[in-house]
Amino acid sequence: MKILIVVGARPNFMKAAPILKAIREANSRRAEWNEEIIPVLVHTGQHYDSLMSDAFFADLELPKPDVFLGVGSGSHAEQTAEIMKRFEPVLVKEDPDALVVVGDVNSTLGCALVASKLVSRARGRPLIAHVEAGLRSFDRSMPEEINRILTDLISDLLFVSEDSGVRNLRAEGIPGDRVCFVGNTMMDSLHEHEDKAEQSRVLEQFALTRGKYVLLTVHRAANVDERDAFAEILDGLDRLAASHRVIFPVHPRTQKQIHEHGLESYFRPRRIDYEKWDAGIQMVEPQGYLDFLCLIKNARMVITDSGGIQEETTALGVPCVTVRDNTERPVTVEMGTNLLGGTRRETIRAAIQRQLQFRGGTLVPEKWDGKAGERIVQILAERLMAQVSLYVGRPEAQIQENA
Ligand code: UD1
Repeated sequence: MKILIVVGARPNFMKAAPILKAIREANSRRAEWNEEIIPVLVHTGQHYDSLMSDAFFADLELPKPDVFLGVGSGSHAEQTAEIMKRFEPVLVKEDPDALVVVGDVNSTLGCALVASKLVSRARGRPLIAHVEAGLRSFDRSMPEEINRILTDLISDLLFVSEDSGVRNLRAEGIPGDRVCFVGNTMMDSLHEHEDKAEQSRVLEQFALTRGKYVLLTVHRAANVDERDAFAEILDGLDRLAASHRVIFPVHPRTQKQIHEHGLESYFRPRRIDYEKWDAGIQMVEPQGYLDFLCLIKNARMVITDSGGIQEETTALGVPCVTVRDNTERPVTVEMGTNLLGGTRRETIRAAIQRQLQFRGGTLVPEKWDGKAGERIVQILAERLMAQVSLYVGRPEAQIQENA
């Protein structure tokens, strides 16, 4: 059986790696379904800079993609259309039994949509599986929310990472037999690489002391694309930056906006003698997976607008302020590590003050145990062995007739 797995952007890589690993392990055991699983890894190239892509392949020991689509950047329409155009012939040629898409980026929706309408395949279309299904911010101004809702609607198997996802899908009327609560593959990657991350030299590189610095990331379009919104967030960090070292790996989108909006004065100069650094926001290049995990793990606090980092801080028990008004990952708030700081300077300052008092969490969400990839491969293989894929897309009556 052939399973095609799509990655495209930075947060996809750590979600897909455990699935590929579980496939390798199942093949080496010749698991109970007694048929080799042939994985095909497709990288759309939505992220292409070496610090946004290659560095993660190396750290996560991901195999070189079998197919690279080289899509690159563009408006949402341009990027999604390009992904679809370039992905369709690959899907037709590879003719997999199942397609696995992860997360909520444009590559996730683009590729799922292509597969959902595939007509050139004699035996019906492949089974579509969405990993990290069911998450909802209930904010449709976020492109990721649109990607999540639509991908879930057209997927056959919905692999859910936290229990809110099960509730959301039920409320949307998605039949229960399509929904599988398997846990979080991002946590599989974290568990596997945590020890290695401890050996990173990144703290020395930036002269940081464990527990004495704050880690900042911000890249969401809603936070950085408009000058006033971005400046408001930076104003919310001013008191913290006056007394703490704040290390800020800058996403390419954010870098571009800092330059375009002329916001450089909020930051320390790029080239500094790190030993003499006692306070202020220090911009650095995007970090690789292991160095970044090390930075999270040893931070006094993390401030972010990323989805995945809310989860990683929860798993590591590190206090986090999320500079957004909502989260699609409510379990991170329920566990106590994550606090929504909003996007106004006063609310951000208040959340930072509160989280500076927080001494760390110990609760871990259900099934964030490092075994999500294994569960996903088991379920996928069982479904494929039952040849459910043969019936996908056929009228109900025909399924019954054939049964
Ligand atoms: C995408 C995802 C977002 C995710 C984020 C993680 C969508 C809709 N958004 O946002 O959910 O949180 O990735 O990073 O899919 N750029 C580079 N080099 C790169 C990639 C991007 O310079 O390797 C620059 C380009 O100027 C590009 C901009 O960053 O225009 C934005 O990239 P894009 O892929 O459109 O979205 P992200 O903001 O990265």
